[in-house]
Amino acid sequence: MFEHLTAQKPDSILQLVQMFREDPRADKVDLGVGVYKDATGNTPVMRAIKAAEHQLWEAETTKSYVGLAGDPAFSDAMISLVLGDAVARDKISAAATPGGTGAVRQAFELIKMTNPDARVFVSDPTWPNHLSILKFLEMESVSYRYFDDTTRGVDFDGMIADLKTAKAGDVVLLHGCCHNPTGANLTPQQWDEVIAVLLETGATPMIDIAYQGFGDGLDADAAATRAVAAAVPECLIAASCSKNFGIYRERTGILMMVANGTDKAVSQGTLAFLNRQNYSFPPDHGARLVTMILNDDALRADWMAELEDVRLSMLGLREQLAQALQQRAGSDRFGFLAQHRGMFSRIGATPEQVVKMREEHGIYMVGDSRMNIAGLNAKSVPILADAIIASGV
Ligand code: LMR
Repeated sequence: MFEHLTAQKPDSILQLVQMFREDPRADKVDLGVGVYKDATGNTPVMRAIKAAEHQLWEAETTKSYVGLAGDPAFSDAMISLVLGDAVARDKISAAATPGGTGAVRQAFELIKMTNPDARVFVSDPTWPNHLSILKFLEMESVSYRYFDDTTRGVDFDGMIADLKTAKAGDVVLLHGCCHNPTGANLTPQQWDEVIAVLLETGATPMIDIAYQGFGDGLDADAAATRAVAAAVPECLIAASCSKNFGIYRERTGILMMVANGTDKAVSQGTLAFLNRQNYSFPPDHGARLVTMILNDDALRADWMAELEDVRLSMLGLREQLAQALQQRAGSDRFGFLAQHRGMFSRIGATPEQVVKMREEHGIYMVGDSRMNIAGLNAKSVPILADAIIASGV
């Protein structure tokens, strides 16, 4: 039967990882996959994670199963981190998932289970795997305008006009902060308008929040998610610990469901059921470390301090790059780089220009010209700025 298999299109982001590895040039620059790197190009294990791992090694007495939805203490800690006290706890169900992608997948499955005709509205552009998973699940996606190629900011009028075409039973997928792949984000006032449209149409929001703490700070980055969750009767939130705890390979994420009109035993039971169908028990190691850190004052303070250093280093790189381009271009047309937030910016280069930068300058960015800002350092900023100008962007 396997002779009927056909080759799958490789993921554009992961394909780039492979190409970069195979490039022998010493001065190549990796601005591809969304992984934080320090100035030396290393992706460090965060101090608080190391300390928690040490404590866990000493204290852990069993590796027996935990629970289908993971440890409730992980859910409590993550609900506090993401939602604060925006929503009453008895309205929230939650289940640990393998990474943020696991939460996204479970959310889509939940939507399909509850309304097989649901259309999922996705920003144009969005993280390519959103579209890939929706297609795999044979779910309908509808693009809403998001990125303005001219200003490299949000096409907010277009977005609102498109979201107004959603209806009850549809889902609107929103990036809670640090939009991936563009780096362009809504202002708090614009979020209020989106909330008004959600209430008007009755569509259900689903928020993907994978970069909390990478934009304007832990609370500021969660503000939009909190405002949406507090205002609407129902929503889904897929959160990742991969980036802000630096535990990418541990696969640590959570799906939260806010459901005002549903019996909590039913909503919580549905999340556990979905876990059981797909992989049974979710991974525990990363979730346990996160729980230990969030519930221990010293570990938490150290984690927050290191995360803040990471955030500020990316902001600094944004400013350096915007300045280097301003000098070379003699204009402010790249000023948007300092306005964008999070790990990514879409620079607005054509696919041909992206290839040219890769072939002639050894600079690897995703084909849609998404750059991982954390892949830069003081040495590579001028190299990238030269390449951008030389490639005619
Ligand atoms: C990214 O967008 O680069 C990250 O979310 C990693 C991934 O899995 O694509």
